[in-house]
Amino acid sequence: LKPRATEPLYRQLARRIESAIRHRAYRAEERLPSVRRLAREQRVSIPTALQAYATLERLGLIVARPKSGFFVRAPATASVPPPTSPPIAARISDLSQTDPLTLIRSDDYDPRRVNLGAAVPSPDRLPGKALGRLLSAAARRLGATGVNYGPLEGVPALRREIARRSLTAGLALQPDRICVTLGATEAVTLALRATCSPGDTVVVESPTFFGLLRQLREMGLKALPIPVDPGTGLDLEALSSALRRTRVSAILVIPNFHNPVGFVMPEASKRELVRIAAAKAIPIIEDDLYADLPHAGPRPKALKAFDREDLVLLCSSFSKSIAPGYRVGYIAGGRWHERIVGLKKANSSGNPPLPSLAIADYLAGGGYDRFLRSFREACRVQVAQMQGALVASFPAGLRLSRPEGGYVLWCELAPSVDSMELFRRAQAEHIAIAPGPTFSSDGRYRNFIRVSCGHPWSDRIEAAVRTLGRLAAAAS
Ligand SMILES: Cc1ncc(COP(=O)(O)O)c(C=O)c1O
Repeated sequence: LKPRATEPLYRQLARRIESAIRHRAYRAEERLPSVRRLAREQRVSIPTALQAYATLERLGLIVARPKSGFFVRAPATASVPPPTSPPIAARISDLSQTDPLTLIRSDDYDPRRVNLGAAVPSPDRLPGKALGRLLSAAARRLGATGVNYGPLEGVPALRREIARRSLTAGLALQPDRICVTLGATEAVTLALRATCSPGDTVVVESPTFFGLLRQLREMGLKALPIPVDPGTGLDLEALSSALRRTRVSAILVIPNFHNPVGFVMPEASKRELVRIAAAKAIPIIEDDLYADLPHAGPRPKALKAFDREDLVLLCSSFSKSIAPGYRVGYIAGGRWHERIVGLKKANSSGNPPLPSLAIADYLAGGGYDRFLRSFREACRVQVAQMQGALVASFPAGLRLSRPEGGYVLWCELAPSVDSMELFRRAQAEHIAIAPGPTFSSDGRYRNFIRVSCGHPWSDRIEAAVRTLGRLAAAAS
């Protein structure tokens, strides 16, 4: 910087930072140096550094976030419309036509592949070391007894911690009415087995997480898809009208940070959904495993918080926030609790105690809350960076979800793009995405993809998104 030049120092500095942003030395949503650090490094006064940032803020290049600092503003995603939710005739499907369900694997760690397909956080974002230490400490504490079966319903320390945390979801779960499970997957399996018999019909959201559809199919259950609104979730009118015509045994929903659409059902809709189900005594299976990941603000209330009849079976896990491989989930099965414990005995005879103890200690020691504070912000940044890159790389016609939590994006492409074909072409370039039809029981969402933002932004991911955009342009 030239102190004697006619251009004031703060403007020279602003131009310098602007150039760094334009040349992508700082990328969308990245934090800029603190005012103090900038002043020290650039040998200017603090007011000059502040004025430089204020200038860039006026230009719309950066934003100030209270108590956090200055950030590079993501390119305009605000003008990109949200995905549509095409009306559908509620038609029961036996799921026999849902071949694409086997496409996406969350255990696929092929180092050459840029995995934007599976909704898993990058392991280097997770507290694996801290949990590993707690796991070893628990193993040392138990000594020779560490190899024993644990209690069928799960270790009491974990059930206590889950009950304590349920206060933040607007509930007061009782530890002895919780059963620890092998991830949310087993929780949902037990819930379905407790409430349905083979051949029964279950209401699902359309679109919904393909793993849930896979479970229905493998259990010989049928799906009745009900559309979702990208902002408010399950279409309650369509649900009421379907329930007048069809007998269903359960309603299976993801009300908080839905996978793949990202919405949170407003509280009034949650209350109304519970009322509709209670009027017909239909159990609701609530899959709540993203709820601890709001990008800002408090955790949204669980659907079960509105449940006066104990008809909601709340299923969740620690897979999406801290430890997918520990396979620790849980179910608060309401009036089906005893039946669920019996099914748990038949299904897996209890969880391994050590991972449960490690997670219980992590929760009790405050590590989980501390971790969540930074992880939520990382998710927000990664989602914003992905939105920016998709907008910059994809051809016209793109529509994008705006999740306020979690790390998946639901993208609608031009109607002419076949996402199954895009999936195959991307695979040949070592890029994984989740094609739209996997999220439906009837082959819908042909021109949709789900993109996972679970990994810290990198040049590799950016290049992969550019390649995807090119493939999508060639396919449309
Ligand atoms: C909505 C939803 N439910 C359940 C699961 C499975 O969770 P878990 O790994 O705890 O079994 C996932 C994983 O992607 C999911 O996204």
